[in-house]
Amino acid sequence: MKFFIDTASLKEIQEAHSLGVLDGVTTNPTLIARESIDTRDAFEKHIKMICEIVDGPVSAECVSSSAPDLIVEARTLAAIDPHVVVKIPMTTEGMKAVRSLSEEGIKTNVTLVFSALQGLMAAKAGATYISPFVGRLDDIGHEGMGLVEEILDVFSNYLFETEVIVASIRSPLHVLEAAKMGADIATIPFKVIGQLARHPLTDAGIQSFLDDWRKVEKDFSMK
Ligand code: E4P
Repeated sequence: MKFFIDTASLKEIQEAHSLGVLDGVTTNPTLIARESIDTRDAFEKHIKMICEIVDGPVSAECVSSSAPDLIVEARTLAAIDPHVVVKIPMTTEGMKAVRSLSEEGIKTNVTLVFSALQGLMAAKAGATYISPFVGRLDDIGHEGMGLVEEILDVFSNYLFETEVIVASIRSPLHVLEAAKMGADIATIPFKVIGQLARHPLTDAGIQSFLDDWRKVEKDFSMK
């Protein structure tokens, strides 16, 4: 399973990249709003800087509504860097844009997917990626990971090339379940990436090995 980081913070992206496990980045308008970006030009430069850190897909989101506007906006975003994947909302206008962009060779990530039928529509329109939002479903009492399971099940019947990005991840358990289900990608917040490698027994084990090694070194110095 590929690991993307779900952030627009250059610091977090650099730190996650240094771990050697990062395959890509996803951003959205909310994540961009957390950075000090106040012009369209600054936004495009920021996306370019992300592309220079990570050698993999970098999702940048379109905010237009109609298909023609989405297509124009997507072309501008795609021109920033060959790594850019344009995020398109899961709407009927979005589907028209995805069909046209996929014919132009522009990569798309259909976002805000909350049902398997939406996932199927996006795949049929030629989406490169779809992003089912698991955490936001959990938040309203629906099983987010159940949606991922359903989408993977539907996709397994056909030969779509569309990859499934498990998005809106809230905890390490979401990542574990995504991997067990065989999802293509998990896009993970920085905090959760940090939690993936940690275990209290590892910390306790390191401490007791160090304590014992200090006793051995004390014996060395006495000889
Ligand atoms: C990723 O592509 C999504 O924009 C993101 O995972 C949404 O996460 P949230 O539900 O925590 O905002």
